[in-house]
Amino acid sequence: MRSKIVAGNWKMNNDNKQTKALVKGIRKSIKKLPLNNTRVIVAPTFVNLSTAMKRAKKSTIEVVAQNMHQSKNGAFTGEISAEMLKSIGVKTVILGHSERRSLFGETDAILAEKVNAALENELEIIFCFGEQLADRKSENHFDVVKSQLENGLFHLEAISWNNIVLAYEPVWAIGTGETASPEQAQEMHAFIRKLLQEKYTTAVADTTSILYGGSVKPSNAEEIFSKKDVDGGLIGGASLKVEDFAAIIKAI
Ligand code: PGA
Repeated sequence: MRSKIVAGNWKMNNDNKQTKALVKGIRKSIKKLPLNNTRVIVAPTFVNLSTAMKRAKKSTIEVVAQNMHQSKNGAFTGEISAEMLKSIGVKTVILGHSERRSLFGETDAILAEKVNAALENELEIIFCFGEQLADRKSENHFDVVKSQLENGLFHLEAISWNNIVLAYEPVWAIGTGETASPEQAQEMHAFIRKLLQEKYTTAVADTTSILYGGSVKPSNAEEIFSKKDVDGGLIGGASLKVEDFAAIIKAI
């Protein structure tokens, strides 16, 4: 059975004090929830990973990184490697977020290298991808998503998919307040699952969690999560407020 996941991508938000307060708040608000097969994840900035991990200790909250560099070490000022994340106990990393792709020039080829470096260090990956508005308008969204998956992930062996979570995030829905309709999300998720089945096996397709991301909020979470191929969400803005994030977790 694949896991349900609610993951908060904090992006470049929350200083040290705010990180402590937010983890504490989430911890308190999910304490009594029956989270059987549901993972609750937060992704703070690099500088606050250790603080968040300390505050999340002995709770079910998982603390993950938002990014990493593909190299092991070296002259890459300002970057962090998979080895470094692993050395402080991080187990999962988000790769390929649309902001990394568009603002920091991360290409499919770079992402494939990052994927390999993460897996070599036994890090689980939450791999993000999704089409631009122009792609959807020209009805190229399925092709774009297919090529992002092929270029970033389809060089992997089936076994590696035990450590991959997918996050479909249509770029036009990220931080815009505009959400893909539950039907649009389901249609794309079913397409992705079919790609996994064709490239790999039914088992890979059935056991890979596929999250939806893009303006998920308390008011729309339940409907999106009710779709059969949507296994949870990657949440930006609404993950920064305890009440909103907790409401989204409840929705799942
Ligand atoms: P949003 O961000 O929920 O603020 O749209 C989602 C994301 O970027 O992962």
